[in-house]
Amino acid sequence: MRVPLVAGNWKLHLGPEDAAGVAAELVARVADRGDTRVLLFPTALSIPAVVEAVAGSGIDVGVQNVCAAASGAFTGANSAALARSVGCHWMLAGHSERRHVFGESDADVAASLRAGLDAGLLVVLCVGETLPQRDGDRVSEVVLGQLGAALGDLPADRVSTVTLAYEPVWAIGTGRTATPAQAQEVHALIRGWLRERYPAYVADEVRVLYGGSVKPHNAAELMSQDDIDGVLVGGASLSAESFAAIVHAA
Ligand code: PGA
Repeated sequence: MRVPLVAGNWKLHLGPEDAAGVAAELVARVADRGDTRVLLFPTALSIPAVVEAVAGSGIDVGVQNVCAAASGAFTGANSAALARSVGCHWMLAGHSERRHVFGESDADVAASLRAGLDAGLLVVLCVGETLPQRDGDRVSEVVLGQLGAALGDLPADRVSTVTLAYEPVWAIGTGRTATPAQAQEVHALIRGWLRERYPAYVADEVRVLYGGSVKPHNAAELMSQDDIDGVLVGGASLSAESFAAIVHAA
């Protein structure tokens, strides 16, 4: 039984004061969330404020990106160990904006994911195709290629701790959500890939989230699909009211 996970990716929004405010309001609104896990990815500079605001609530906090190195001459970077030290238990790896805006390669994503796992972080690994790739019938090749490159030869027991997020690039921040059937088709493909490659418990345990213009009005139908185990929410997670509505939809 996969416990649904609803994650908010705040990207480069909400400085410490505003982030703590939204987090505190969220604590008040999702206190009765029952069996759903709730997770926030604030910008790195707001992490300590959010960790403090959600303390004791069961809401988890993660870092949006870490570099492969633990420390050293890496101006502008964050490490998994530092994220842990300020109270993060989770991280994102391979978000489409890291891949497409910051030019992270599959190898960068794989190295970051390993650094996170080694430091004891739980990882949400994002994969997804662009519109030209979808139009060119390359969804399976791109999505499974990204998965294979990031997970590589990680043993099954480590893969089973990773959460996957299918985020079609054309649906992120565009208001154009994949239909529940379109999303389910790719989620089933991912589940099948896990089933082929690893012992059965891996495909049974690994959560696959959907992300890309998830809103309160479409969240329930997306999450009712067999292989959709939660959502990764950008824009609609910036307000406690709409994010709480999505948590309740789970
Ligand atoms: P969106 O972002 O919900 O604003 O489309 C999703 C994401 O980038 O994870």
